[in-house]
Amino acid sequence: EKGGYEHFMLKEIHEQPESLANAIRGRLDFNLGTSVLSGMGTSARDLSEIQRVVFLGCGTSLHAGLVGEYAFEDLADIHAEVQQAAEFRYRNPIISRSDLVVAISQSGETADTLAAVREANQKGAFVMGLCNVVGSTIARETGRGIYLHAGPEISVASTKAFTCQVAVMLMMALKLGRGRRFSREEGLKLAREIERIPELVERTIQQSDKIEKIAARYAEHEHAFFIGRGYLYPVALEGALKLKEISYIHAEGYHAAELKHGPIALLQKGTPVIALANDIAGKDKTLGNVEECRARGARILGVITEGDKEAAEFMDDFIEVPACHPLVATIPTAVALQLLSYHIARARGCEIDQPRNLAKSVTVE
Ligand code: M6R
Repeated sequence: EKGGYEHFMLKEIHEQPESLANAIRGRLDFNLGTSVLSGMGTSARDLSEIQRVVFLGCGTSLHAGLVGEYAFEDLADIHAEVQQAAEFRYRNPIISRSDLVVAISQSGETADTLAAVREANQKGAFVMGLCNVVGSTIARETGRGIYLHAGPEISVASTKAFTCQVAVMLMMALKLGRGRRFSREEGLKLAREIERIPELVERTIQQSDKIEKIAARYAEHEHAFFIGRGYLYPVALEGALKLKEISYIHAEGYHAAELKHGPIALLQKGTPVIALANDIAGKDKTLGNVEECRARGARILGVITEGDKEAAEFMDDFIEVPACHPLVATIPTAVALQLLSYHIARARGCEIDQPRNLAKSVTVE
């Protein structure tokens, strides 16, 4: 059932080009430069009435929602925010009928996310689900939504669900954006970039052997920091979560600008800093932060855009991901970090598919 792979996690990482192709298939309209997401269950009028989008989720799904927040604000010009589902539920959320609430959950069974859905439904918001498991409780209770079509995810560490969640949110933002500020031409450009995602991920996965060699140099450390800014900030958080859950290395994800407000105090000679420095807005500032870390003796592993010699100069080691639209770049970058975590955990002899203390789906609040 592992299809010849040593672990489900590795199998699921490798399945991503296909999962993503399934998530995208039939959902892009190259005539109108938009996306077709009937599951959103919205008429054109509904869409124009949406004033705010609130994403809800936990763990990896929360990080996907954070990417969604950036995508909706930048592409669709719409106020968007992400909230940890348990926090949303207990803080008297201000919700109105013009709010679109998107519950993100691979399993569709996470108790905190389900409770948040019930709260949002009760307050009259327009609620939809972004689930992978067909017929799951959240999918049923939201009544409308978009399935990821990622295929079954067995490994406790979420991989293909995350990348499919981001891909689907990009298509949602494209659809909303076309109703608001995007021309057909701009819409087409983005649709073509989204269409490339499976290939971009395939090219990233092809570097698995190289990433494995790099991972061997980082496997002995007990602490690691992931930094990024802009679209890559949520990816830094996700990279740190993945590493800590399967390798038991204490890993922290920070906005690159936050380091010098405290965490930099923890850097010592050789402390690994994984810097997401793809060639997108904010790169120069992140490279400046890399210098600050290096000055404290940190060992820097960069994720950079293929062929970016300038960024490579700043790094002790680097992994390259293909050049693409900056929002789309979140996906191959996350895949590179999944492989890094996997190979580090494997080098440490960890269990990987069933990490201690964790369950695939958290059904208690
Ligand atoms: O099924 P869900 O997407 O609602 O699950 C949410 C989290 O429990 C989940 O993403 C968790 O953080 C993963 N183990 C991360 O790899």
